[in-house]
Amino acid sequence: MMDSNAVKRYSSLLTPAWNRLPPRLREVLRRRLRKKAAPEALPEALRERLDSVGFSTSTPDTSPAIYDCFAALADSGVLGDYYEFGLWQGYSFCVAQAAASSAGRTEPQFFGFDSFMGLPPLTGPDAESREFKAGDYAGSFEEVVSNLNHFGVDWERTHLVKGWYDHLPGSAAHVATKMGPAALVLVDCDLYESTVPVLQFVRDRIQPGTIVMFDDWNCFDRSDDMGQRRAFGEFLDENPEWKATPLLSFGWHGQAFTMQPVSGRRPEESRPSGVEV
Ligand SMILES: C[S@@+](CC[C@H](N)C(=O)[O-])C[C@H]1O[C@@H](n2cnc3c(N)ncnc32)[C@H](O)[C@@H]1O
Repeated sequence: MMDSNAVKRYSSLLTPAWNRLPPRLREVLRRRLRKKAAPEALPEALRERLDSVGFSTSTPDTSPAIYDCFAALADSGVLGDYYEFGLWQGYSFCVAQAAASSAGRTEPQFFGFDSFMGLPPLTGPDAESREFKAGDYAGSFEEVVSNLNHFGVDWERTHLVKGWYDHLPGSAAHVATKMGPAALVLVDCDLYESTVPVLQFVRDRIQPGTIVMFDDWNCFDRSDDMGQRRAFGEFLDENPEWKATPLLSFGWHGQAFTMQPVSGRRPEESRPSGVEV
């Protein structure tokens, strides 16, 4: 049985070849290769819907965690929109719509952001890493739209933003007026240099009780000097009015935090470094 790291690696090797196949052949192969991607923890009807699309996901444990986060939001009463940074084929994005419905949430708008060209070249603190490389998780915008159609997303509430994250907020100008406070943010873009602009972009949409999920929290051997850990640590240093409380960890890789305003605390107490997760 392959672990999630190996699945990530094989997926990134196969994706370019897959994308070169004619769309009709991809569709036939998808149906033939239908996999047991959807984890048992998800409702059976949802598993069937996901399988019928022929999706892959690099991290199946993220989906039950999205359910858990929507359940936590139902308990806390925090309302707002869903923001996902890093869609690849759209799997977790579709799960989020199903999870929101199952938690009785009809208000969220769903915003999905991606280059639809895979990862950018690795620069900055992650530059020497072999864990990821440029072009991993490449998939076309058209393919993601087709997957979302096949799954049956609600396009009235679904907004895709195409572009590199360092082109935000400009690339999202066409949907800016629709964006409300965030209830749940999934940051699934692997790298430090990708996570920094994402956090800057969502900063003004964070409200008390917003949940932020980092899918790649434990990548890079859990180093605080690389990847999402470094980006979030810097974000909290630069925004001492917010503190992050660990909510749940998922799979070998992921960590969710609940955001709360700091009242009467010294800024340095808001940083999650040293928090056992
Ligand atoms: C691991 S995949 C996302 C997996 C997905 N959430 C799932 O359900 O399986 C990471 C995604 O982040 C996107 N990404 C990473 N860095 C980016 C950047 N700087 N700008 C735009 N997209 C980026 C990639 O294109 C890729 O689709």
